[in-house]
Amino acid sequence: MTDLLTLESPRLRLRLWEDEDLAPFSALSADPAVMRYFPKPLSRLESAAFIGRVRGHFAEYGYGLWALERKDDGAFIGFTGLWNVRFKAPFTPAVEICWRLARDYWGLGYASEAAFTSLGCAFEQLGLKEVVAFTSEVNLPSQKVMQAIGMQRHDAEDFDHPALDEASPLRRHYLYRIDRAGWLKAMHG
Ligand SMILES: CC(C)(COP(=O)(O)OP(=O)(O)OC[C@H]1O[C@@H](n2cnc3c(N)ncnc32)[C@H](O)[C@@H]1OP(=O)(O)O)[C@@H](O)C(=O)NCCC(=O)NCCS
Repeated sequence: MTDLLTLESPRLRLRLWEDEDLAPFSALSADPAVMRYFPKPLSRLESAAFIGRVRGHFAEYGYGLWALERKDDGAFIGFTGLWNVRFKAPFTPAVEICWRLARDYWGLGYASEAAFTSLGCAFEQLGLKEVVAFTSEVNLPSQKVMQAIGMQRHDAEDFDHPALDEASPLRRHYLYRIDRAGWLKAMHG
């Protein structure tokens, strides 16, 4: 298998998770602003379990949610990457792209930059035909990233996330898609 464990973007290293990432990752995942569009912030134990699942995904598939390290100072800033959707929906099986960054690093283009590199891996190395992304209809910052990297919303494919209960205001999700041609077009303007 090609080594997809470490990738690079202009300002970031996309790498496997290190034990030292737990402290900054659990801090950002406990931040109510970061987790505003999730059911609740994560405890330290839940963050550790999340990292465990991410490592398992890398072990099984050779790609996953890369830890993001800023090149100039080595800071861990969050994650971006590719994930095999685990639940069943009309659009599965599918590989999704997702991101979560610490608040101090928002608005600097890091999510989009890491996402472009992740899509490059998806289309050039893994040979995927398409990548999806989805988020709650109220998560506009995440939808902005999807749009910035050239993803298109397919409104006929809006869906209720199966892990959220009927009363949840986060339940309704929008589905975005992108293929290799869309990625190339978005990157080269
Ligand atoms: C979503 C998130 C990753 C964006 O990260 P980011 O590094 O700030 O994104 P970028 O700087 O690459 O910005 C991409 C676009 O989103 C916009 N954006 C970023 N943060 C935003 C915010 N809080 N509100 C509105 N727009 C925002 C940027 O202006 C940019 O749009 P533009 O291309 O029109 O200028 C970050 O806000 C985050 O981690 N949120 C919490 C976790 C989360 O919700 N993850 C997604 C789950 S589906």
